Amino acid sequence: MHPLIKEVLLTKEKIDLRTSEVAKEVTEHYLKEGVEDEPIVLVGFLKGCVPFMGKFLENFNLNCQTEYMLISSYGSGTKSSGKPEILLDLRIPIENRHILIVEDIIDTGITLDFMVNYFKMQNPKSIKIITMLDKSKSHKVDIKADWKCFDVGNEFLVGMGLDVNERFRNLPYIGVVDVEKLATWKW
Ligand code: IMP
Ligand code: MG
Repeated sequence: MHPLIKEVLLTKEKIDLRTSEVAKEVTEHYLKEGVEDEPIVLVGFLKGCVPFMGKFLENFNLNCQTEYMLISSYGSGTKSSGKPEILLDLRIPIENRHILIVEDIIDTGITLDFMVNYFKMQNPKSIKIITMLDKSKSHKVDIKADWKCFDVGNEFLVGMGLDVNERFRNLPYIGVVDVEKLATWKW
């Protein structure tokens, strides 16, 4: 294990199992709503969403299309700047569409809150949120995921798309960063 990672919080096996469970719940929800003939628009925010989106898609068999946006909200550090900015927008109209946001992690919730409001202005039929991780005690705005795989504390995490300084997105597990070592780390 890399010296900057002090602990494995969630193993690949745990993440796989939980993702397939939650994907089933999401599927059941949409089947109950009777939307299976219209492609659900899955929206992921680059770059962090990629591994979880992949895992989720393997377990989600409904008619859907996948779209990506690039949102900036963090610099290279471990604290949110609190100012999301859309760097790459959707290329499709979402009016009257069912939107499912597929998130890696909710921290303050500011990014997601901003994005949900942005989508609402475009009159979609529905907006739902699934997140791999939720730092529910760190929320600064009133936002709730419809489905979450895991609740986590406020430690800084990497792996499964989460990065520090653009590193560790490729880890197949969720690790806890040693922030003391990070403070003086030479990359
Ligand atoms: P929020 O706007 O504060 O909810 O932050 C959302 C974004 O911050 C996430 O999509 C991540 O990109 C990033 N983020 C929040 N917590 C962590 C973490 O523990 N590790 C890596 N990235 C994080
Ligand atoms: Mg994200």
